[in-house]
Amino acid sequence: MKTIAKALAGSLMASTLLAGAALAQTKEVQMLHWWTSGGEAAALNVLKGDLAKEGFAWKDVPVAGGGGDAAMTALKAMVAAGNYPTASQMLGYTVLDYAAAGVMGDLTETAKKEGWDKAVPAPLQKFSVYKGKWVAAPVNVHSVNWLWINKAVMDKIGGTEPKTFDDLIALLDKAKAAGVIPLALGGQSWQEATMFDSIVLSTGGAEFYKKAFNDLDEASLKSPTMKKAFDNLGRLKAYVDPNYSGRDWNLATAMVIKGDALVQVMGDWAKGEFVAAKKEPGKDFLCYRFPGTDGTVIYNSDMFGMFNVPADRRAAQAALATATLSKSFQSAFNVVKGSVPARTDVPDTAFDACGKKGIADLKSASEKGTLFGSLAQGYGAPPAVANAYKDVVTKFVHDQIKTSDQAVIELVKAINDAK
Ligand code: GAL
Repeated sequence: MKTIAKALAGSLMASTLLAGAALAQTKEVQMLHWWTSGGEAAALNVLKGDLAKEGFAWKDVPVAGGGGDAAMTALKAMVAAGNYPTASQMLGYTVLDYAAAGVMGDLTETAKKEGWDKAVPAPLQKFSVYKGKWVAAPVNVHSVNWLWINKAVMDKIGGTEPKTFDDLIALLDKAKAAGVIPLALGGQSWQEATMFDSIVLSTGGAEFYKKAFNDLDEASLKSPTMKKAFDNLGRLKAYVDPNYSGRDWNLATAMVIKGDALVQVMGDWAKGEFVAAKKEPGKDFLCYRFPGTDGTVIYNSDMFGMFNVPADRRAAQAALATATLSKSFQSAFNVVKGSVPARTDVPDTAFDACGKKGIADLKSASEKGTLFGSLAQGYGAPPAVANAYKDVVTKFVHDQIKTSDQAVIELVKAINDAK
């Protein structure tokens, strides 16, 4: 397994720590993140505002690129140089990876004071607590198995909610016949894999998803069901416009917002773009679970991983942690971001219909045991495995892997090599 600890070994970390520390002031929060789209930036502004009220300045370190691949490369370079940010946006297994490398700070005192142990759901604590210490502050819970649909286009083609994968294909055919781009896709590996998470869940069901993408069970990974999931991915690709390659996710969302395309399959950060464009669910757009996946939630959670900064920067870190988990922030931020609160005790009053469904779905999936981590989004397996997965999916989408049979063989091999 390729871990961060190995990547950092031999770096000049210790000797350059002081130089790095000097770059950040004690009364500022230096934050590395990939929230650069309209909806994401609007959500981040809520946090900047809250911290400004506490007297902390914001030092932005944005690294564009949805899904965070570029941001994580930048973070690795900063940490290797001993230039620790106050915090970095991170996903699941990456937090644990950095914690194992011994570079994370300790938020336990703040967590105790603020009662995080009781308020933060157990699946998130698995990734924000390392060897008994809180090392990250969970910001939200996103889920990936959603469809985002333009309502006017839906009305025009006389479409209804697709309940099965075949229903979805029939709906896409209607859009095609009406001359609308059926499926808005951004042809980047993380987006394709995020969509494939939903396809695998829809094709094989909740238990299959878990066995394949959380337990990495080889029999499931190479099963006829996985092959069928690749077949279904191939079927969906037929509904994408020719310019999809390399397109950013928010530009794909914009196609749906404008009515140039009918639907995007994307995590609920897409809703942040609709909100930023002043669009309302039920009136301008529709949110449905990916067909055949209602009742299951494939989640990720943005976390602010906190680094082991020198003592004079820890007050800023504690202020950030306290602000992030405050109930009022959890409501205000997530309403704008499209996600749902990372605490179970935040009322859903301020959320729109999609947000209310997201909160209710999360609760019932936790109770029923159908809440699973997204492999594409850092919660199914460590980063090396997730990257191997994204690689195979994108090769299949871009015809470098030609058949579903071959895709399954490559998937098993890539995951085994990365383990
Ligand atoms: C995800 C992240 C979301 C959103 C999205 C697109 O990885 O969890 O908060 O930012 O990427 O950038």
